Amino acid sequence: MITCQKHLFSLAEDVSYLNNAYRGPVLKSSEQAAIDDLQLMRNPQRIAPDDFFNGVKRVKGLFSRLIGSAVDEIAIIPSTSYGFAVALSNWKVANGKKAITVQDEFPSGYFSINRWASENEATLEVIQRPEASDGRNELWNRRILDAIDENTAVVLISSVHWMNGCRFDLEAIGAKCKEVGACFIVDGTQSVGAMPIDVKACQIDALICATYKWLLGPYSLGIAYFSAAFDQGRPLEESWMNRTNSQVFSSLTDYQEKYLPQANRFDVGETSHFVLMPMLEQSLKQILDWTPETIQSYDFELKKQLAEYQESRGLGMDLSSFSSNHLFELPLKKELNPLELKEVLEKEKIYVSVRGTSLRVSVNVFNNQEDINRLIRVMERF
Ligand SMILES: Cc1ncc(COP(=O)(O)O)c(C=O)c1O
Repeated sequence: MITCQKHLFSLAEDVSYLNNAYRGPVLKSSEQAAIDDLQLMRNPQRIAPDDFFNGVKRVKGLFSRLIGSAVDEIAIIPSTSYGFAVALSNWKVANGKKAITVQDEFPSGYFSINRWASENEATLEVIQRPEASDGRNELWNRRILDAIDENTAVVLISSVHWMNGCRFDLEAIGAKCKEVGACFIVDGTQSVGAMPIDVKACQIDALICATYKWLLGPYSLGIAYFSAAFDQGRPLEESWMNRTNSQVFSSLTDYQEKYLPQANRFDVGETSHFVLMPMLEQSLKQILDWTPETIQSYDFELKKQLAEYQESRGLGMDLSSFSSNHLFELPLKKELNPLELKEVLEKEKIYVSVRGTSLRVSVNVFNNQEDINRLIRVMERF
């Protein structure tokens, strides 16, 4: 088990940041890497042609270790919507099938699959979350599995629901998708980095992640995995960087018909992302060093502390395997206004989010028991 890692960040001492699901704080090492890269721009002659590619390769290598894939199955994307567009524009089936997502899926995913459904004359089935009860997250998972049938062409869901922390059983859903030949697209933004994932064991076809949350990366830089189902896919754009001769700057106009192999063809133009890419490289190294398994165990202790308080107040909290340890909802007494509570918390420099009628609390290795105690003290007063 690790101890609190706040010293590796520049978070203010008196701040309890319980909102990594909103945006992850930058590591000191990432900040330094960005500054170093920025300073390199003062003298562009020091930037060699290889520098356009090497940072990308290193980041792909680190990310592939995190999710259990090959390096060539990784693409650099600017946002999750871009990643969904790559996957869905390459998923061709006969018209009239079914697409599946879940209630309150993040808008980038929802709009992407909704558009795919209308362009392919498919119906979009949105699986509703059961009403509040013990085991509602488990039941939600069951409903998804029951909905996937021979007529299903695509399933698009998040690994962990961004509003309530419900953890979807990717292994079971992936197996059902394979059984019926459906494409399985996962938005990993709210878990990858903080929770273990194995894309092969889960039989995922496309894993799409923004990096500015649990990967502790910068905004405007995303990363994705594409399975062999997309090996011959068509990129959204025609970038010079995605052709087989791109590294030989003197002969770029010997236009090459061939794209780079596998997912490399889907890299967004200007893939190198100077300044941003070195930040992600540092955070991926740090996450691999901590390990997502350790992060989940660390976060569970903090979640348990809150669950004990909730119980003492007669309020529930899901501690089952169908709720993530790093992002979860904190049900409140009906008469309490969560937006007012959030305001009071912010006056005390405690930061959480409100999603629906619950507080959304998210914890990471820079938090400790005192952050949870501070949250409890204010809730008690409120
Ligand atoms: C599940 C999920 N996906 C995606 C995003 C944002 O992704 P993008 O802005 O890259 O589309 C968020 C942001 O909150 C999210 O929670």
